[in-house]
Amino acid sequence: MDNTKTGGLAGINAGETSLCTVGKEGAGLTYRGYDIYDLVDNASFEEVAYLLLRGKPPNKNELDDYIKRIKLMRDLPSELKTVLEMIPRNTHPMDVLRTGVSFLGNFEPEERDFSNQEEAADRLLSCLPSILLYWHRFHVDGVRINLATNEDSISGHFLHLLHDRAPSELHRKTLDTTLILYAEHEFNASTFTGRVITATLSDMHSAITGAIGALRGNLHGGANEAAMELIESFDTPEEAIDGIARMLAKKEKIMGFGHRVYTTSDPRNSVNKKMSKILAQEYGDSQLYDISEAIEKTMWEKKKLFANADFYAASVYHFMGVPTYLFTPIFVCSRITGWAAHAMEQRKNNKLIRPAAEYVGPSLKKWNS
Ligand code: COA
Repeated sequence: MDNTKTGGLAGINAGETSLCTVGKEGAGLTYRGYDIYDLVDNASFEEVAYLLLRGKPPNKNELDDYIKRIKLMRDLPSELKTVLEMIPRNTHPMDVLRTGVSFLGNFEPEERDFSNQEEAADRLLSCLPSILLYWHRFHVDGVRINLATNEDSISGHFLHLLHDRAPSELHRKTLDTTLILYAEHEFNASTFTGRVITATLSDMHSAITGAIGALRGNLHGGANEAAMELIESFDTPEEAIDGIARMLAKKEKIMGFGHRVYTTSDPRNSVNKKMSKILAQEYGDSQLYDISEAIEKTMWEKKKLFANADFYAASVYHFMGVPTYLFTPIFVCSRITGWAAHAMEQRKNNKLIRPAAEYVGPSLKKWNS
């Protein structure tokens, strides 16, 4: 086996999907045949969720019903609220989500024949922000929040629970756009984790719990938080240029840059960058955006590495007053759609996923007892 080619399964087709294309010629990223640029301009996150989970875009009545449906699923069992109150304040919220989903799987398990799989997916889509923000507001603000808001959209609901007030239309639309951009991405590490779990005929909650664990790491979803910490570690663009050059000289990885599949750019980046610039102006920022651009320019000049979706998503969330440790959890609130859609797709034509390994250990020897 040639490890330089197959390390990390790079370039290996590990199965089929009709959900998404990544980096295919002529279209950087598509969901069920729709270009993400078309979707961010013309669809809402709820429409994209429906597209991914139900297989086709909703008509007006279907969308109205879907929004009503997921709005009614936002509350949590009191037992889960108790568990969330018991999880320490200094826990990473990705771990809170992992526990929350796993615990919910005890209370509202999927049927053994998966006949309620769509309901399980909708429920998670609806209540992930509740799990996250119930825990956050309880530990940060010392309040037991009411999880019902009159916001129709998941983005509006999320910001309303977080800040305890209705968000501006600009912020709601911006968060909605990032949710669309994060929704699906073919056989990325967390989705593949979820498919491996699903392929054993395990349940949706186990698949999503595993996927959350995979997304948490800095090489995957955790990069948006790591990118924010990096950007904030510099005070000026000049400092950033020097600092990045030093890090590269030490062969350090710069979070928010590079991609396994895309080779020249990440199509989601231009959308995030534009939103970051608009929000920087609204926020009155005089440094963060310029520092971000300086890092982006340096990375391209020195390594020909481009910013991925996580890099400008970081400042977008920051400018909307989202604490850094909630960035990757927002990714979960979006990617639940792709994960669940993949679980359902896997089940349609299931085969256990069990690859082989090249043995590089010692040759056969005798045990001396
Ligand atoms: N900063 C610095 N160098 C990077 C880099 C980064 N962000 N991403 C890749 N490289 C370099 C590697 O050091 C390596 O250089 P080398 O050949 O001289 O050793 C080369 O580019 C290939 O990188 P590698 O990590 O082997 O590629 P991969 O396909 O396994 O990794 C990522 C893809 C996304 C994991 C990788 O680009 C990365 O770690 N990025 C930072 C984390 C991140 O932003 N993740 C979110 C992805 S959407």
